[in-house]
Amino acid sequence: SAKTVPPPRIVDRKFVVPLLCGPGPCDYWPSVKEALANPMITPNCDEFYNVLDDIRAGLQYAFQTKSKLVLAMSGAGHAGMEAVISNLVAPGETLLIASRGMWDQRACIIANRLGIKTEITSVPSNTTFTMEQLEAELKRTRPVALFITFGDSSTGTVQNIERLGDTCHKYGALLLVDTVVSLIGVEFLMDEWGVDAVFSATQKAFSGPAGIAPVAFSALAEEKINNRKHEPPFYFDIKLLANQWNCYGDTRTYHHTLCPPLLWALRCCLQEIVKETLPVTWARHASSMAYFHKRLQEHSIELFVPKPEERLNTVATVVLPEGLDHLEFHKYMREKHNILVLEGRGPTLGKAIRVGIMGVNARKEIADIVADALADSIKALKK
Ligand code: GLV
Repeated sequence: SAKTVPPPRIVDRKFVVPLLCGPGPCDYWPSVKEALANPMITPNCDEFYNVLDDIRAGLQYAFQTKSKLVLAMSGAGHAGMEAVISNLVAPGETLLIASRGMWDQRACIIANRLGIKTEITSVPSNTTFTMEQLEAELKRTRPVALFITFGDSSTGTVQNIERLGDTCHKYGALLLVDTVVSLIGVEFLMDEWGVDAVFSATQKAFSGPAGIAPVAFSALAEEKINNRKHEPPFYFDIKLLANQWNCYGDTRTYHHTLCPPLLWALRCCLQEIVKETLPVTWARHASSMAYFHKRLQEHSIELFVPKPEERLNTVATVVLPEGLDHLEFHKYMREKHNILVLEGRGPTLGKAIRVGIMGVNARKEIADIVADALADSIKALKK
């Protein structure tokens, strides 16, 4: 009858699987494909809690932290961002945002929606901050926290934050860091650098699926969470999630239904990272990206970030010749070379394309294939 909805025609579809060399998602580890097909586990059995324990131990290694308050949010990297901000900054409090790309702008939107006051300090998007600039802004704005992106996929820059934790603490501020596209690919030492809250994602250098976002909190952050007067959104409440994830070893409380295939996959990514060890993973990313830059230089292809020490080891922002249509370029790369690279975002939109040489693809053979394909596509499309 006219009142019912007839069944739609849902056709079978075939995918031509490309080489994923954008700023994410990245190709899977072969073992992750298998892990995703592991049996469903129910949240009230030991098998389930053992997987959570494995993941927490692996994440402590990945973040280089001894903190107990380490877990993974159900959701993309944005879930990590929203959790970190909403748990640590109350409505009416001030968050200082160090802005050079797209992700700190997202942080600003999230904070404003939560009723948080924001102060913004920026640098040109193809550079990074000096410690002096950040210290001056901390002094001027006296925020409860500073938000900064470590590796920025929208600009291809990496921010030095080695002593930033101490500087923040001197002014009574917590340090909140986005490591979505940098963790595993670039050396990151949460405890040593005094980072108070950090979030990441699994579809980048982890080489896993999107949808589960690792987070970690320092002792200072934990203290703020335990003494805060405001309530963050229920789904992002770290106090409740810490109980679900059994962070303190004595709770196994239901909060929401976690996605077992994603848990299996994240556990598997962490096993791969532990097997390779972080110093080796960091070095593999550094040497593959340096090699990719060298190959681009041979083809006279320019990079968006002028200073080598500010270039991110996972994602390169590559400048196309003037007048070349970026959309046409992506289409050509996909159709002729079956390689997926992505357009610029935020500050690089229309200015540079973004190429990921990360995770399982952080290898010289891949860097060669992508550099040659970029050069061929530029030659083919240049008017
Ligand atoms: C998405 O995560 C991006 O970097 O574009």
